Amino acid sequence: MSIPDTAAARRRVSFHSLTVKEVRRLTEDAIEVTFAVPAQLAGHYDYLPGQYVALRVHMPDASGRDRELRRSYSICAVPVQFADGSSELTIAIKRDIGGEFSTWANAELAAGAVMDVMSPMGAFISRKGAASNVLNSMNHPGDLSNKAGNYVAIAAGSGITPVMALARSLLAANSGTRLDLVYANKATMDVMFLEELADLKDRYPQRFALHHVLTREQRIAPILSGRLDAEKLEFLLGTAIHAEGIDEWFLCGPFELVQLCRDVLAARGVQRDNIRFELFTTGRPDSPEGQRGRPVMIDSSEETYKIRFTLDGLTTEILSPVHARESVLNAALRVRPDVPFACAGGVCGTCRAKLVAGNVTMDENYALEPEELDAGYVLTCQSHPTTPEVTVDYDG
Ligand code: FES
Repeated sequence: MSIPDTAAARRRVSFHSLTVKEVRRLTEDAIEVTFAVPAQLAGHYDYLPGQYVALRVHMPDASGRDRELRRSYSICAVPVQFADGSSELTIAIKRDIGGEFSTWANAELAAGAVMDVMSPMGAFISRKGAASNVLNSMNHPGDLSNKAGNYVAIAAGSGITPVMALARSLLAANSGTRLDLVYANKATMDVMFLEELADLKDRYPQRFALHHVLTREQRIAPILSGRLDAEKLEFLLGTAIHAEGIDEWFLCGPFELVQLCRDVLAARGVQRDNIRFELFTTGRPDSPEGQRGRPVMIDSSEETYKIRFTLDGLTTEILSPVHARESVLNAALRVRPDVPFACAGGVCGTCRAKLVAGNVTMDENYALEPEELDAGYVLTCQSHPTTPEVTVDYDG
């Protein structure tokens, strides 16, 4: 599988303040938020359908102390550019149980609010040509230079968000493209983008097939009710979905569902190169939010790792006590708050850096492809030194 090599996929991430242009309710637990992107920042926010942004907010902790939170959300709309050079960015925020930021946003966020938004990132994009040229297709609908393709997307819950952007762009990019979407939710009231999906169906009746699966609601077809397990998926792929000759598969949802789909597809002989997946999961409890700024006392007799990292051309060195078992990211954040990260759970890839010297062990990796690992890239939020000295390069 090739590593995405587009300007939007490679760009260094940076935060800018953007104004919320509109907040629209999608379900009782989810909102769609559109940010206005002024012309002078448009270059920082061009993106490919399927990518995400991180939001940076400050909220008080239980003791009232100010604390920085970062949360990443997928972009659900196709890229637009207005005549004056400005653009916009639309994401969906679903309320997580116990999620402080998502609960606040669902209750309070309104047009006019200003938030720090990171430039878009992520590799959950089409590699078959259509989506990478989507801006051209959107601006020149008659230009069918993009190849027609056959696609299947399987999403659950808020995993539909990046799939909306992919579906809209892929179907618009070529009149010969077909897409089957399996979308699993608990009940109809939980279905995000219900109307938009129906509109898409009306617009592309021959080319877009939508299969809602409801786990806690009875549908007329029994196959579309109940948990989406391997048997149900196999049946769907053998009947309702024409699963042969698929150019790309897009899987987005919780780990269990994505893994289940990958296993089923592997058993059917689908090439790993043709499967894109994105996990929607929260960061681990020991994520940097809880550790940032935590004083790390170093006793001179104590055994330490020496961690050296380069970011934006500046190299910094820091000592990390062996017993603290800090991640490279956590250690780096103690001295440079601008070190990039978003999920802190090994999922998004924002904290990627190249290992230049020494060695590390990674707890989790849901973001890096084997080719990136072979090239020496690591997720610094998951990396712990295993040699006395470690050097990573965030610019590499
Ligand atoms: S911050 Fe998301 S993978 Fe490290």
